[in-house]
Amino acid sequence: DKGLYAHYMLKEIYEQPAVIAETLEGRIHKGRLLEASFGHETTALLDKARHIQIVACGTSYHAGMVARYWMEEFGIPCSVEVASEYRYRKVVVPEGSLLITISQSGETADTLAALRGSRANGYIGSLTVCNVPESSLVRESDVCFMTRAGTEIGVASTKAFTTQLVALRLLAIALARRKELSTAQEEAMVNELHALPRQIEVVLQLADAIKTMAEGFVDKHNALFLGRGAFYPVALEGALKLKEISYIHAEAYPAGELKHGPLALVDESMPVVCALPDDPLLEKVLSNLQEVRARGGELFLFSDHKVNVGLDHYQNLTLSDIYPGTAPIVYSIPLQLLAYHVAVLKGTDVDQPRNLAKSVTVE
Ligand code: M6R
Repeated sequence: DKGLYAHYMLKEIYEQPAVIAETLEGRIHKGRLLEASFGHETTALLDKARHIQIVACGTSYHAGMVARYWMEEFGIPCSVEVASEYRYRKVVVPEGSLLITISQSGETADTLAALRGSRANGYIGSLTVCNVPESSLVRESDVCFMTRAGTEIGVASTKAFTTQLVALRLLAIALARRKELSTAQEEAMVNELHALPRQIEVVLQLADAIKTMAEGFVDKHNALFLGRGAFYPVALEGALKLKEISYIHAEAYPAGELKHGPLALVDESMPVVCALPDDPLLEKVLSNLQEVRARGGELFLFSDHKVNVGLDHYQNLTLSDIYPGTAPIVYSIPLQLLAYHVAVLKGTDVDQPRNLAKSVTVE
């Protein structure tokens, strides 16, 4: 039931504070990760893991891409690949590799085939981050780490994505514990997760401003999403949301790649969206955006209060109170809302976009 919401997608966007809190429930307490809640088999697998191979499709793949940045920060080797490629490749599996599949439905044909095909490849085991307890991926994986997003009806994945990120962050903390994570670091990371529902509530209050921003996209045929570091997959996800439900051709690039081709596309009719958090790559991204402005590209930015944008002309929404570790999760919310409002203005079928199915059970 959509209740008072015009679409399931909107309802699901607004459910995020609650389902993130639900996904954290019983897994953290007073600045500590409660690893016992993962179950003995899972912790035993994490003990043995020397390398992580993530395999997923679509939005779930983007969640995996963000997780790679998190894992590598703590010296955990991690690779990520789309399942449709992975399953047909002759893969070389490093010793001590753990296969992690990520899926909302647990029924995605390629992801399931990648899991099945991995059995002979020498993995120490398989873990699935999944939202549906009775799904094939949960049944066939050695262990599972459930997201608790509840039923997601909108074809465009929103709350499943952010709860996947939360689950992956918890797994990253668990793996980092096996490296040199200090108690103080763990406490900071856990408290950041704990703060997420409140932070997202605040971002959701920006909906009217995002609606206004959305007007700038209605008559456009293309859009470019830029990001660097963990915000590159956030840009990929923002572009996927926009193309899926508004049918505007949207592409995401790591901002540093702009000069290597996509800059040729930029003119006055190209909206450029960028998540611009206060992080070590900020100056680099700003200089990339300068290049966009110099070609007349229209900038739609999401930044936080520590950032001085200093460009000549742009639309900006400022998020407050952001922590670097969870910023990719928080910054995903305005991009979901942007795609939603553009689609509504265009009058598309938001919950059931053309040509797409909620669960891709055939190749
Ligand atoms: O159920 P899964 O997470 O395995 O689904 C994977 C993709 O089909 C899915 O994320 C798709 O990209 C969404 N429609 C994106 O919004």
